[in-house]
Amino acid sequence: MRKLYFFDTTLRDGEQSLGLTLNVKEKLEIGRQLVRLGVDVIEAGFPASSPGDMESVKTIAREVKGAVICGLSRAVKEDIDCCAQALKDAEYPRIHTGIAVSPIHMERKLKLSPDQVLDTAVSAVKHAKKYVEDVEFYAEDAFRSEPSFLVKVLEKVIKAGATVVNIPDTVGYATPWEYGELIAYVMNHVSSIHKAVVSIHCHNDLGMATANSLAGIKAGASQVEGTINGIGERAGNTSLEEVIMAVYTQQERYGIELGVNTREISATSRLVSRITGVPVPSHKAIVGANAFMHASGIHQDGVLKEKSTYEIIDPEIIGIPRNTIILSARSGRHALKHRLDELGYEIENEKMKDIYNKFLQLADQKKEIFDEDLHALMGSTGLDQNGRIRFQKVSVNTSGDAASTATATITLEVMGETLTDAACGNGPVDAVFKAIDRVVKKPVFLEDYTLKSVSRGSEALGDATVKLRYGEKNTVVVGRGISTDIIEASARAYVNALSKMKCMFTAE
Ligand code: KIV
Ligand code: ZN
Repeated sequence: MRKLYFFDTTLRDGEQSLGLTLNVKEKLEIGRQLVRLGVDVIEAGFPASSPGDMESVKTIAREVKGAVICGLSRAVKEDIDCCAQALKDAEYPRIHTGIAVSPIHMERKLKLSPDQVLDTAVSAVKHAKKYVEDVEFYAEDAFRSEPSFLVKVLEKVIKAGATVVNIPDTVGYATPWEYGELIAYVMNHVSSIHKAVVSIHCHNDLGMATANSLAGIKAGASQVEGTINGIGERAGNTSLEEVIMAVYTQQERYGIELGVNTREISATSRLVSRITGVPVPSHKAIVGANAFMHASGIHQDGVLKEKSTYEIIDPEIIGIPRNTIILSARSGRHALKHRLDELGYEIENEKMKDIYNKFLQLADQKKEIFDEDLHALMGSTGLDQNGRIRFQKVSVNTSGDAASTATATITLEVMGETLTDAACGNGPVDAVFKAIDRVVKKPVFLEDYTLKSVSRGSEALGDATVKLRYGEKNTVVVGRGISTDIIEASARAYVNALSKMKCMFTAE
């Protein structure tokens, strides 16, 4: 059995694609969950890209233990210095530096000759080695490079001290057999390849990132890079949970020892979706809401007779426990705690009282509380509770006539003061958002708004996500709100997003 290392770049390649910056607290929460999942490497950010990223990588390096903490850097001295500084307190620091190696990138983007690229790559690795032992080199756009040139670069960077060499399909152009061939070519032609870990990094432009990664693993790569839920540039990165489960289901075939805790997959996916505001499609492999549902009669019949007729993964393996207790307003605190434990929530005793009260409020509005409701309830604890801005109440008036406007009245607590205002809008949600703007008096632009039902039935919880853009730097923040009343959920989401804006509480 060989070891396969999982390198998570949700906080770097994933975040880079979101059009928004997660705050340090949010990144820390994801970082800690990734350790629970058992990934080997967490790429925490690109420190030279912004002071915010620097701060996040620094905090994760200091606070998150039990995994290699990695920072990205271009093959530029100042970037590498910045990266090293950010990683100072990491238990196991890694600098990930590199440069593009394909003809199109070298000629048109970098305007450097192949020899210049080679020298830059070697200097970058040598410079990073002054700070840390563990240096990963990425050969950007490797899949479109000249294989003999790629081999030359890899030989040189390994000689310069690279411990890991990353061979990305940056533009998601490969097919599995071609990508596998490239990795095999590297394994067979780089004479010093046994001195480094070969890493694969695929993008999903043609929908083949997971398949390409598996082909790379089969051809000998021992580190796979990806993100949770496959978030990332354009069509995304390889979904780590898909690779984990593909290897898990056919472990003997790959001859690979899996060091990850598959039971944390579902919780990790939900957390990343909640914090990034990127929904997981219901048909998404492994973590989609329908991934373990059997709709057709023939399938249902088969599953009832023998699960393995149509089920290749037991949902419990990824942390979805089978439900045996129906929760309702009659359920006691013990039953609730038991189910939340099964769903993977570690709850301190003092918090349980508040959670139970929220559960009872919800159970008063809904007959049955499903797991999805519990996830929503847990996701909503702490929303708009930072003490600076809180939702209090909302009321709307609509005539049901599309030609007339809706009016909304909102009450918020802002910095300890209770404030109420009203506004008209094209519809109830528009009126609510305008009323909130009148209370808060900060210029914001509504970038995106989505509303979905959390579970089943007309009494289901509404889950609203709001993205707001503000300030000269066009900073985007995401807010989420949950309630059985969809107008209240929308208002809460808007307020939650506002609570994350720095300028709410400073002179910015
Ligand atoms: O896709 C890519 O090539 C990358 C590198 C920066 C590793 O993300
Ligand atoms: Zn990438």
